[in-house]
Amino acid sequence: MLVTGSEVLVPARQGGYGVGSFNTNDLEITQAILRTADRLNAPVMVQISEGARKYAGTEDLGHLVADLASRVRVPVALHLDHGSSYASALSAMRAGFTSVMIDMSHLPFEDNVRETKRVVEAAHAMGVTVEAEIGRLGGVEEHVSVDAADAFLTDPDEAERFYQATQVDYLAIAIGTSHGAYKGKGRPFIDHARIEKVAARIPIPLVAHGSSGVPAWVVERLRAAGGEIGDAQGIADEDLSRATKHGIAKVNVDTDLRLAFTVGVREVLEAAPAEFDPRKILGPARDLMAKIVEHKMGVLGSVGRV
Ligand code: G3H
Ligand code: 13P
Ligand code: ZN
Repeated sequence: MLVTGSEVLVPARQGGYGVGSFNTNDLEITQAILRTADRLNAPVMVQISEGARKYAGTEDLGHLVADLASRVRVPVALHLDHGSSYASALSAMRAGFTSVMIDMSHLPFEDNVRETKRVVEAAHAMGVTVEAEIGRLGGVEEHVSVDAADAFLTDPDEAERFYQATQVDYLAIAIGTSHGAYKGKGRPFIDHARIEKVAARIPIPLVAHGSSGVPAWVVERLRAAGGEIGDAQGIADEDLSRATKHGIAKVNVDTDLRLAFTVGVREVLEAAPAEFDPRKILGPARDLMAKIVEHKMGVLGSVGRV
């Protein structure tokens, strides 16, 4: 069932659990997400980035997800990930997205407020809910001093002022995570105290980007199948689980699906060099991505919430 972002995220914030928001680029990824959500009775979000729109086409991919979502029992929001402009948010909504992110976090505070407000007004008029971001994501490495980290991470007072000025529906905050498979040396750090401070000031669902775990088994199998991957590092399950109990309701995951997809394809092609049936190549990749989705839903506590 296709619903807005708020319809899956508000109960999550209130219930102290997280909803996985998984990036898709094609049919197999979308099926891995939605079939698993349906089987586990878990609310879910499927998100499409600007890059995915360029690759697959906004209508082709958006309509595909919306159609599959409308035919599962669990609530699914179709979300624009890191929307880069007002026009982009509008065209996504026209294509049936039920949730959009307007990411102006690179702009000064007042500009971020102004651009976010424009999107919130248009989206609410169309029955769509909105995510914005305040603070800067990016690797805050262990050797960075607390003062330097503070400059990147979301300031709780600023978050409160931003929420009051924009009336945005859910807010991405910078808490130490970063995108991709290399989230810093050693154990990536999550600023739990900061999450709690923001959550105490604003009642809306909070969003964590860069939440892939980069599981060891995936990295090992990738290497065993001839893949090259350096000192990859993700967010620990315990950290994520703890964050969802204190205000993080939307948890963004892309990298883990990419890694699992690549393991699946590599393993088939290595074991069966004569194979050229796309279904035999992509099927195992879809199964491995479903395994990732299932694990993440367990960590986030969204299983059985529908
Ligand atoms: O936030 C980044 C997501 O992983 C999407 O990545 O822009 O390469 O599709 P992308
Ligand atoms: P990962 O790279 O950790 O999967 O994060 C994805 C993300 O935040 C998409 O917006
Ligand atoms: Zn992101």
